[in-house]
Amino acid sequence: MKQKILVAGGTGYIGSHTTVELQNAGYDVIIIDNLSNSNIEVLDGIEHITGIRPKFIELDLKDKEATRKALASQPGIKGIILFAASKAVGESVQKPLLYYRNNITTLINLLELMPEFGIEGIVFSSSCTVYGQPDPENLPVTENAPIKPATSPYGNTKQINEEIIRDTIHAGAPFKSVILRYFNPIGAHPTAEIGELPNGVPQNLIPYLTQTAIGIRKELSVFGDDYNTPDGSCIRDYINIVDLAKAHVTAIDRLLGGKSAKDIEIFNLGTGCGVSVLELINTFEQATGVKVPHKIVARREGDIEQVWANPERANKVLGWKAQETLADTLASAWKWQLKLRERGIM
Ligand code: UD1
Repeated sequence: MKQKILVAGGTGYIGSHTTVELQNAGYDVIIIDNLSNSNIEVLDGIEHITGIRPKFIELDLKDKEATRKALASQPGIKGIILFAASKAVGESVQKPLLYYRNNITTLINLLELMPEFGIEGIVFSSSCTVYGQPDPENLPVTENAPIKPATSPYGNTKQINEEIIRDTIHAGAPFKSVILRYFNPIGAHPTAEIGELPNGVPQNLIPYLTQTAIGIRKELSVFGDDYNTPDGSCIRDYINIVDLAKAHVTAIDRLLGGKSAKDIEIFNLGTGCGVSVLELINTFEQATGVKVPHKIVARREGDIEQVWANPERANKVLGWKAQETLADTLASAWKWQLKLRERGIM
């Protein structure tokens, strides 16, 4: 029988790609989302790709009673993947309470409700932001690298949520958890049926880059070329969104298949390769044949100089490995941008 999975935040960027992979793997997905930063049409994209329209409940997970009713209406949910959260670093500095309320209340509500409904496992979306700027000897970072003080309320919510899960399981809660620390997810589904659709002016590199390439933005600003890196620009580990989505399927298989070695496991999800901003622009231009007007500007406050993953634990234990090349991933982001133009969205 198909196992039921609740994807909290399933119409968002990572949630929608994960829903596709879960459905392809035979899971029965129920999405809960309040559509605060996503669009209901995402369900059409998921249906076009998989032939299955996931069940959808529009609801704010901060509302515990409404969440309880929704779970009661969908008996038999075995696992939860929690994406639903606010995620703009800059906004979190301006509106810390919004971030603490959204990101922490949602998790607490779900953890409190899980035993009531016999839900056995939760996969939590965390971030490499918990490592801050790792010391040089800790690059590439493993899961054992020290957690650094958070540089934004957003980052702090990820740290606090990891601690909440750890403390709850330590106290004997009747469920298990897998915490996934994402590096920089980019790209779109190869069909261009779903992708990243930020509201307003993009803060993240790839949507700003593709919007510049298509002429919506005049110029991409490269935030600093005076870092202590080979070409002076910041280094990140850019991970293909479909590869990232597939890791969630392996995590859920492991949680529900009784294969977890411990009640709580943590995995880095990255490629293991660090790429600079300037290298990335160059790779995009080569992969697509499209020029990206750009200029070097001052450093962005709060940016980390360089971080990339040691993904060995996920490779060995989950049996998951990033597959796509950076060039193909950037080409998928471009195809998605062209699709948005074709559909008159941007
Ligand atoms: C950060 C967080 C990540 C969080 C994400 C959400 C870290 C290490 N990572 O990612 O946890 O999930 O924000 O927003 O804290 N850049 C430019 N020009 C631009 C935009 C970006 O040069 O217009 C550069 C940045 O300086 C950075 C790289 O591109 O070096 C990636 O930036 P971005 O996409 O914003 O992600 P992070 O800041 O790495």
